[in-house]
Amino acid sequence: MKDTLILAIESSCDETAASVVKNGRTILSNVISSQIALHTLYGGVVPEIASRKHIEKINQVIEQALADADVTLDDLDAIGVTYGPGLVGALLVGVAEAKAIAYAKKLPLVGVHHIEGHVSANYIEHPDLEPPFVCLVVSGGHSHLTRVNAYGDYTLLGQTVDDAAGEAFDKAARVLGLNYPGGPLLSKLAEGGDDTCLPLPHPHPDGRYDFSFSGLKTAFLNACHKMEQKGEALPRADLAASFERAVVDTLCERAMLALEESGLHTLCLAGGVSANRRLRAQMTALAAKRGFRLCMPDLWLCTDNAAMIGSAAYYRLRKGELAPLSLNAVPSLALV
Ligand code: KG4
Ligand code: ZN
Repeated sequence: MKDTLILAIESSCDETAASVVKNGRTILSNVISSQIALHTLYGGVVPEIASRKHIEKINQVIEQALADADVTLDDLDAIGVTYGPGLVGALLVGVAEAKAIAYAKKLPLVGVHHIEGHVSANYIEHPDLEPPFVCLVVSGGHSHLTRVNAYGDYTLLGQTVDDAAGEAFDKAARVLGLNYPGGPLLSKLAEGGDDTCLPLPHPHPDGRYDFSFSGLKTAFLNACHKMEQKGEALPRADLAASFERAVVDTLCERAMLALEESGLHTLCLAGGVSANRRLRAQMTALAAKRGFRLCMPDLWLCTDNAAMIGSAAYYRLRKGELAPLSLNAVPSLALV
């Protein structure tokens, strides 16, 4: 069978990324132009700056992705692009670019949900992985537990009722004086810290598989502010470790419940927070103890990239799910 080559574009937040993916599973190129250093100056992503930077970089990034894969636009079978959720101005840059290429080269256009992309990073990492499985998606904007019934077919089991896990990490990190994005920095600080220093609540929202991080975050912020008011030096590493433990325990507990009750034997992790060292170690230990298959993308595939979008696009293309040239960015696009 002839190979299917997809050029994928991702620009939903602060990375301008393009990738050429073969048959949904093999990365021929993966180019990421990160804006993190720029946004760090402001302590978070500035949407207007993100859009401008995407416009500046996107052609370069695509040219590089084609060159690295040693292909031209004429070799492609389709264009895949993230059209939501994300920052509208940022998304629009990728969507407009993808539509222009699809129109000019008469190629099919596939719109991809950003979170479906994160889930699909697992197909690249684990070539034999097939649905059904349970997937814990934890990123800066999402904390979802989903049952992946088939390619592109999801049942939402649970989600955060307030903050996303990554958002909670970033806010806690800020109190500890760490810059954006705080998650990885907080995790680094937590190494060697005493994770029992600060007892934190493990909230149980009504939904059986739902998460809540807002109460946990507030308890953490209050404890830090109280210490500061008393003039005490913050035991930063211990606080970071306690916070990380509380978030990871909650994620593991809910994921285990969902996996057990689903009757399935495979759990996948996806999204930026799945790069977290403690989450990966704790899940690995649980998998060994309980005998389920744990799949997680390599660290560089956990955070935003276009290869994962190319994988998701392949399975949409296979089902004939094409986007019209009127495709628009949808900042709050739902997964199911
Ligand atoms: O998936 P992602 O790259 O972008 C979104 O789609 O949101 O996720 C970014 C989020 C940020 O909140 C970042 O702090 C968090 O993932 N993150 C981490 C780690 N690496 C990234 N959180 C905790 N530990 C990490 N090692
Ligand atoms: Zn993401």
